[in-house]
Amino acid sequence: MNKFFLDLGNQPLANNYLSHYNKKQIKYKLKLYFNTKTKLVSISKRIPSKIMFNDKYPYRSSMSITMKKSFKKLSTEITKKFNPNLILEIGSNDGALISNFKKSQVIGVEPCKNLAMITKKKGYLTYDKYWDINLAKKIKKRFNSIDLIYSANTLTHISNLNDVFRSISNVLSEKGVLIIEDPSLLECLKRNTYDQFYNEHIYLFSTIAVQNILKNFNFEIFNLKNLDTHGGSIRYYIKRKSNSKIKVNKSVINQISREKKYGLNKFKTYKKFSLRVGKSKKQLLKIIDNLKSKGNKIVGYGATAKSVTIMNYCNINSNLIETFFDTTPEKINKFLPGKNIKILKYNKNKLTNFDYAFLGAWNFKKEIFDKEKSRIKKGLKFITHVPYPRII
Ligand code: TMP
Repeated sequence: MNKFFLDLGNQPLANNYLSHYNKKQIKYKLKLYFNTKTKLVSISKRIPSKIMFNDKYPYRSSMSITMKKSFKKLSTEITKKFNPNLILEIGSNDGALISNFKKSQVIGVEPCKNLAMITKKKGYLTYDKYWDINLAKKIKKRFNSIDLIYSANTLTHISNLNDVFRSISNVLSEKGVLIIEDPSLLECLKRNTYDQFYNEHIYLFSTIAVQNILKNFNFEIFNLKNLDTHGGSIRYYIKRKSNSKIKVNKSVINQISREKKYGLNKFKTYKKFSLRVGKSKKQLLKIIDNLKSKGNKIVGYGATAKSVTIMNYCNINSNLIETFFDTTPEKINKFLPGKNIKILKYNKNKLTNFDYAFLGAWNFKKEIFDKEKSRIKKGLKFITHVPYPRII
């Protein structure tokens, strides 16, 4: 049974950055539910993939040094540990991972045609299609089987998880390994990062829930790693249960114990989270209102999809945060969905025109603080809501 625990209000499509100021945008209810049987946390409103992931998708994995480094490190690990003949990436985006491999060794799957085109042009085989059973069968017919499948921040975007894992099971070899990585629900609750929820993020995984889903496909997690990326993610290493050659590492049971200790298997934990989120909204607005009443100028730093959730849930418009700075070409000179805040090309000199910067890309805090060292010394201050609203 799905039990409701948090209402994040009416939200526009998070990655639908607008070319024009538009007051009449379609908004969808963003409500969060906990499944008492599978322990899976999900949003209720499912928007068709074709509307969200099209030929104008603005998110680029290669835009951050942190992500590029993380993918490079992983590619070395994949080669050393698993030495696969053939690697398939579901959601290959602009090639941040696959470009670390030889062209003959990797296959990309990326339904956003603008992104698929980037890796195609570089000579990587890329299917610009949605991941489903038809595509899996097509790939199986051509390559027989794949011995390593990787997917980062993608499976949580696909509504039909049963179809996702059935398709993976169809094409993965008997001894094959599946590696998935997605934001960690435990970290989200601990850090109060409710902005991890937006209409693309249909699910936020706990290890408990992933293990429960995998059971239906005779898969199991044999190892996992907690990562710093995207505000705390988990990389799951998965195999078929029938593959007894690979032993299950202690890290799996340890993570499940940590999650149970925190209460991720209990509904009351989510009700408490919901109360904390309400409090966070009030505190953030208090800080911003106070700064504005003293005549301060505030810019948004990183026009993330997460910021869209915050701006719309907290009802923050351009009277409070004048503009956002971002480095992604696809977002520049557009407007933040829902609140119509203009996004300008990041410019370090123009940053000094502002007294405070709201840290929209809080998940890249370290990278950003390193970059802005000299401006911070000169007095630039940041506002963050993680793990609670404050000025840093
Ligand atoms: P994400 O949190 O959804 O990964 O998006 C991060 C966004 O933040 C992306 O649009 C790029 C932007 N960004 C900057 O503008 N400056 C930076 O220094 C970093 C790290 C990211």
